[in-house]
Amino acid sequence: MRLVGIIGAMGLEIERLCERMENRSESVFAGRTFYAGKLGGVDTVLVCSGIGKVNAAVTTQLLIDHFSVDEIINTGIAGGAHPEIRVRDVVISDTVAYHDMDPRILALSYPNLREFTADPALIKEAAQACEGKVRYRIGRVATGDQFVSDSRVKADIVSRLSPCCVEMEGGAIAHACAANGVPFVIIRCISDNADDSAEMDYDTFEQLAADDAAEIVERMLREERIRD
Ligand code: ADE
Repeated sequence: MRLVGIIGAMGLEIERLCERMENRSESVFAGRTFYAGKLGGVDTVLVCSGIGKVNAAVTTQLLIDHFSVDEIINTGIAGGAHPEIRVRDVVISDTVAYHDMDPRILALSYPNLREFTADPALIKEAAQACEGKVRYRIGRVATGDQFVSDSRVKADIVSRLSPCCVEMEGGAIAHACAANGVPFVIIRCISDNADDSAEMDYDTFEQLAADDAAEIVERMLREERIRD
């Protein structure tokens, strides 16, 4: 049976899943606590990475090296960056790109990619978990070490990448997965619109959006078990 790695950047993004995990055991590597157990009947390792690209990359590599996970799901919140996307909608990654690194320079190093492509089967499972439950969109996720809360900064990112959302870890998780040949998908629920009102909306919606994303992940696992 497959082993699924799940990463959230902040405690509030993994809390709900952690509470629901059965037969939970804990181990610590590089200051991160990894929770192993069953979620929705599926063997899972859940971890809070910390915020930003370096934390996300370190955690992804630890998850791969110490647990040999077969696939990785990133759950969490994001700023909306598409005209048709509203707060509490879910974004499922098809591609993931850095908005704070020149893609030509990125592609000079292994795995020599300008952006990273999510696993089609995981995208399909995530979409099925959303179907009839929440508004969702499959598209590009843009990652950078910056909380985007300025309309001009957002407009610049949108003009270069046309993403569905902006966040701070997905690209690094995708990058580490690509380097190791591990399939991944990023699932983010929108907490704000990454513009001048972002900080206010974020405070109101962060927990609600984090729980929405976690619920989709849990449903993905449950539905997949039923299909097996
Ligand atoms: N995560 C949630 N909202 C965000 C934003 N506006 N920018 C970056 N990461 C986010």
